Amino acid sequence: MGYSEDFQKLLRRRNAQTNASHLLPHLKPGLQVLDLGCGPGTISMGLAQAVAPGEVHGVDIEASQIALAQAAASSGGHSNAVFQAGDATALAFPDHTFDIVHCHAVLMHIPDTRAVLAEIIRVLKPGGILSSRDLIADSSFFEPDMGDLGSAWTTFSALLKANGGHPQMGKELKHLFHEAGFSDVTASASFEAYSTPEDIEFLHHFVVNWFFSPDTVKAATQYGLASQEQFDHWLSLLDEWKALPGAFGTFAWGEAIGHRP
Ligand SMILES: C[S@@+](CC[C@H](N)C(=O)[O-])C[C@H]1O[C@@H](n2cnc3c(N)ncnc32)[C@H](O)[C@@H]1O
Repeated sequence: MGYSEDFQKLLRRRNAQTNASHLLPHLKPGLQVLDLGCGPGTISMGLAQAVAPGEVHGVDIEASQIALAQAAASSGGHSNAVFQAGDATALAFPDHTFDIVHCHAVLMHIPDTRAVLAEIIRVLKPGGILSSRDLIADSSFFEPDMGDLGSAWTTFSALLKANGGHPQMGKELKHLFHEAGFSDVTASASFEAYSTPEDIEFLHHFVVNWFFSPDTVKAATQYGLASQEQFDHWLSLLDEWKALPGAFGTFAWGEAIGHRP
């Protein structure tokens, strides 16, 4: 998805209450938490508040995200939140370090899911909890569809897949957790809904500046997933959609929680 300012604006809307509500009942003071693929740390802050004086360790492969997360922790007074750059498939922590590993919109982006899950199992304490929340692209929508906006979602999925990602990961989590040996696995699903005029304005602006950015269009056309004309057509439909009083859009998410054997 990259690290553009428009994508960062999307991440800044997130927090633990809205994006990790499935995990919050499992958090209590004193736990050690790993926030894997923490990005700018907007969710990590709420996790840190819930487990203080326990610690949240945020890890992200991108150094610029770690700098943002560190700044958020120091301006928010979260001295129990620490961040370091690292790769989810080769973590710099000893075995059995964490009570909880939290991933939000991360497993869907890492090509080798089994390698990440193996590394998560290694750093979790026996009985520790893995929580993940990922997109279900097939269940996300713009409504009204304007006749063809659904096919933009299909192209988005194909593009994510071509980059090694997993656009339907949200609904695959329960099965993957079981396959990896987790027990007491629970799964749920939720929508991130865009309905108010401000939300519609935000979503339209985000999609225009991310999906229709020169980089995305170039990648999709190079992979042969859509033509420039197809993108132009979707853009005009999206502008019409935004002007409708009934415009509604969602991202669909799947969540799963499992216990390490
Ligand atoms: C969509 S962002 C989600 C950020 C944050 N969890 C959130 O939801 O606000 C995905 C993050 O995963 C990170 N990431 C991707 N591959 C990674 C890897 N192999 N190891 C660690 N982080 C990774 C990216 O750098 C990015 O910050």
